[in-house]
Amino acid sequence: MKPHLRRAAWAALMLGVSAVAVQAEMAAPTTPPDPPKFDAQGEPVFVNRADILEYKALPAYSQPEWVAAFEAAGKLPPLAERLPKEPLVYKTANMPDGAGTYGDVMRHVIGGRPEGWNYWAGQSYGWGGIDIGLVECLTRTGPLFEVNAADLQPLPNLAKSWEWSEDGKTLTVHLIEGAKWSDGDPFDTEDIDFYWNGIIQDAEITPLNGATAATYANATLTVVDSYTFTMSFDTPFPESVLYAMAYGNFCPGPSHVLKPKHPKYGGESYEAFQKAFPSDYMNFPTLGAWAIVEHRPDDIVVLRRNPYYWKVDETGQQLPYLDEMHYRLSTWGDRDVQAVAGTGDFSNLEQAENYVESLKKAADPNSPARLAFGPRTIAYTMYPNLSGNGWGEPDARAQAVRELNRNLDFRKAISYGLDRQRLGDSLVKGPFTTIYPGGLVPGTSFYDQASTVYYPYSVDSAKEALKAAGLEDTDGNGFVNLPGGEDLNVVLLSQSSYATDKNLAEGVVAMMSDIGVKATLSLLDGKDFDNARDSGKFDWIVLRNGTELITVVQSTAQLAPTGPSTDWNHRANGAGELDLLPHETQMVELVNGFIGTQDAAQRIELMKQFQKVYTENLDGIGLTAYPGALIINKRFANIPAGAPIFMYNWAEDNIIRERVFVPEDKQIDAELHPDTLPGKPGEAGPVKAN
Ligand code: GLA
Repeated sequence: MKPHLRRAAWAALMLGVSAVAVQAEMAAPTTPPDPPKFDAQGEPVFVNRADILEYKALPAYSQPEWVAAFEAAGKLPPLAERLPKEPLVYKTANMPDGAGTYGDVMRHVIGGRPEGWNYWAGQSYGWGGIDIGLVECLTRTGPLFEVNAADLQPLPNLAKSWEWSEDGKTLTVHLIEGAKWSDGDPFDTEDIDFYWNGIIQDAEITPLNGATAATYANATLTVVDSYTFTMSFDTPFPESVLYAMAYGNFCPGPSHVLKPKHPKYGGESYEAFQKAFPSDYMNFPTLGAWAIVEHRPDDIVVLRRNPYYWKVDETGQQLPYLDEMHYRLSTWGDRDVQAVAGTGDFSNLEQAENYVESLKKAADPNSPARLAFGPRTIAYTMYPNLSGNGWGEPDARAQAVRELNRNLDFRKAISYGLDRQRLGDSLVKGPFTTIYPGGLVPGTSFYDQASTVYYPYSVDSAKEALKAAGLEDTDGNGFVNLPGGEDLNVVLLSQSSYATDKNLAEGVVAMMSDIGVKATLSLLDGKDFDNARDSGKFDWIVLRNGTELITVVQSTAQLAPTGPSTDWNHRANGAGELDLLPHETQMVELVNGFIGTQDAAQRIELMKQFQKVYTENLDGIGLTAYPGALIINKRFANIPAGAPIFMYNWAEDNIIRERVFVPEDKQIDAELHPDTLPGKPGEAGPVKAN
């Protein structure tokens, strides 16, 4: 071969190579790197559920002396008559510091505000543990972080036991017998019937946290007697229903006050029903350990002990040990500041921006609070709205974004465009945050690294992916244009009440600008944000992950669009239609398969496949994951070791607050309403014995 020919052949070869190179410019997907090592402080002491509690009658019961004074004054029936036949008894051996003593207050600080007390019509109490303490549920999952894997099932609570029929299609539930609401009204299947028929089966009403018939596998509920009901299903053993009966869902309301206001039972209207128990309505009947006795708007909500509480310790002392609960109405950031300073008692340290300062303060041996990091369970996802058929009623601009969201190349562009390392470091430097591609959270029980597809940070790949999605910067202003010529403009919705949500969203906007995608931030607060989220009024949304991406067994149905309104980024349009993408259909099948089987090995396999489909298709785009820390004042006893701030539920549930106490020599003088109890529903504040 002559030299010049050789050169030509070489050039041709080069051309071929570069043509291939152009096509291959998108970086190959990989698996995410190992998270930096971060050891949780304090391991749980693992036990079986039966080691924690039982239901039984004790030879004698006792209560604080000042409550006995109410009996003496004829204002309260004797304690034995207020308690169930067989109260729920917490076992001493499972209490880290044993049976406690009465008195003192837990001073919470929260960023939300109570809208009113009609949780069943969707009213928020302000979060931060208020509602977790006020609405007791049929089962309980928060404390499961310390339950042995082999015994993993929800704890009984208002439901003291249950059994499946042989074919697995009927579940019989037995309620605790003789428990009473905080105003003395009996708790029984009348309350269950109202929850089911007045709330769950009524399409006009959505309770807070969104329970619907689908939450309970579309069961048929039948009341058998005052303390027994059955649920029948189409499929055998839908065990997830037992998890759905825990906090967030099957937490019945007091039918004796709710029912008369409900339009189906003679109430005026749905609106009037929702507003019937505004935030200045005091002593709203509860099954929780404390009831609301005072609300000063933007200042504080005060709760006093519920003299009818149905749980006791093994020595017969009626719970709770703490007489009062405070919820200071401030900001979420202030919760951290006050907890480390000792002016507040409790915080879920979850906003990574506050870590360094909080750690520094807590490291001082004289610090009033202890701070313990748990597993890496705080994670954030950015969801592209995947509805193409009208959920959230998009205008033309938003509809164009929806079409792009439904295009995998576009979603890849977003993922390639995110420098997740820098995003995490911008919150806090150190071994806290980890690269989180999305889906199941790294380090949790069903997570499998090898099944996790990660489109790594690469601006070139992002631009290539945009091109593949048909997007180019045709007017040279640095931002890609839509086919019509105008700039693509995506609106990113985020919460304004948490610094972390806002910072992450701002980071995303900046990184998108680097790849030529114009994104605009829309910040909403509290209930406004929740409404926009639930009604689909967003192009993209930044969300703190729910429990389903951690435990899988809790809120399982929310992992995919398994129903018209279960998924975070894809719900049905006004006509009830869901236009699922092929990968979403696969996800739904995998999730339903998981819900429908008890086979442990199969469940693991199904979740591997789920993770692969979810991350390969970028159903949600993971941002970052990091550990949270529980900050709690050192004077409190019975705080279980290794309690995570978030797993099956939030720490306010996990630490079993009704069992928490302050030893006498450490009690502080912080009660605002000493020696008082909740008064009559709707009447003013707390009452005295005399
Ligand atoms: C808010 C807080 C969490 C936790 C929950 C409890 O979401 O951010 O830390 O307190 O309320 O519902």
